[in-house]
Amino acid sequence: MGYSIVFIVCSLLLVLQLSTVAGKGKAIIGSPSLAPAPAPGPEYTNLTDLLSVAGPFHTFLNYLESTKVIDTFQSQANDTEEGITLFVPKDSAFASLKKPSLSNLTSDQLKSLCLFHALPHYYSLADFKNLSDMSPINTFAGGNLYSLNFTDDSGTVHLNSGWSRTKVSSAVRTTFPVAVYQVDKVLLPEAIFGTDLPPMPAPAPAPETDIAPTADSPAADQTGKARAAASPDSSSPSASHRMMSWGILNHLVLAIAGGFLMLLL
Ligand SMILES: *[C@@H]1O[C@H](CO)[C@@H](O)[C@H](O)[C@H]1NC(C)=O
Ligand SMILES: *[C@@H]1O[C@H](CO)[C@@H](O)[C@H](O)[C@H]1NC(C)=O
Ligand SMILES: *[C@@H]1O[C@H](CO)[C@@H](O)[C@H](O)[C@H]1NC(C)=O
Ligand SMILES: *[C@@H]1O[C@H](CO)[C@@H](O)[C@H](O)[C@H]1NC(C)=O
Ligand SMILES: *[C@@H]1O[C@H](CO)[C@@H](O)[C@H](O)[C@H]1NC(C)=O
Repeated sequence: MGYSIVFIVCSLLLVLQLSTVAGKGKAIIGSPSLAPAPAPGPEYTNLTDLLSVAGPFHTFLNYLESTKVIDTFQSQANDTEEGITLFVPKDSAFASLKKPSLSNLTSDQLKSLCLFHALPHYYSLADFKNLSDMSPINTFAGGNLYSLNFTDDSGTVHLNSGWSRTKVSSAVRTTFPVAVYQVDKVLLPEAIFGTDLPPMPAPAPAPETDIAPTADSPAADQTGKARAAASPDSSSPSASHRMMSWGILNHLVLAIAGGFLMLLL
């Protein structure tokens, strides 16, 4: 009589423990499937709209429109095979450009200058290491005279056009097929301004300024995903599996200990 009660209580305890373990297991298994959002296909990006709201990039956009280079860039952005990478100087970069001036450039030179600010391929932040290995890189303006050198100084990407040495100061958008990066200076190609180079400032040791995506851009989301991918331990199936096994073990030990305790009493 007494033993059967103990047996029933023990069995009940065990069933209770196992069912809570199963419930927890399901919750743990269930949660990671919610995390990766379904990857959306490449969508159409209107570059005019993008450059009007970010920045301010109005001066650059005006040059793109007056030279019709915006159409070239837009059709490349529409090309989902290759995509496009743009290096866009802020209005302040054009304002601080005193010498050489852009005012006496011919329309062809102005067009080349605009094309010089783009690469006919999509490069994400992660690809910049590759770009520095492959430098010099031919730009959209074509030819070796319109090439850019990239150097990745511990996370800070520097561009060298011969005349201008500048850095990528932020990622405005990095969603395939359109990558837009803000640069600190207007990129002046040797092919237009000659080889009469201004004295090159010594490359100062770059502080730990990682490229910061602007908060309200899709780039922020992308960087988040990249970080998550970089630390697989945090949410990988194996991690949750380990957690679950430990949970089951924990509960089983508790249940068996409880059973023994009751048997002893
Ligand atoms: C892109 O946006 C601009 C400005 O809103 C608009 O004038 C232009 O027609 C748009 N282009 C396309 C292809 O939708
Ligand atoms: C780019 O694609 C959009 C949407 O499909 C289209 O309206 C626009 O005319 C295209 N622009 C160019 C330059 O190909
Ligand atoms: C623009 O003007 C400056 C000074 O007048 C001159 O030195 C320079 O060569 C000109 N540039 C071009 C591309 O004509
Ligand atoms: C990096 O460069 C190598 C060789 O130049 C190429 O095979 C590889 O696909 C590149 N990787 C990326 C991510 O562009
Ligand atoms: C880019 O790098 C190559 C090879 O290191 C060098 O010959 C060339 O002068 C550089 N170009 C510029 C614009 O700095």
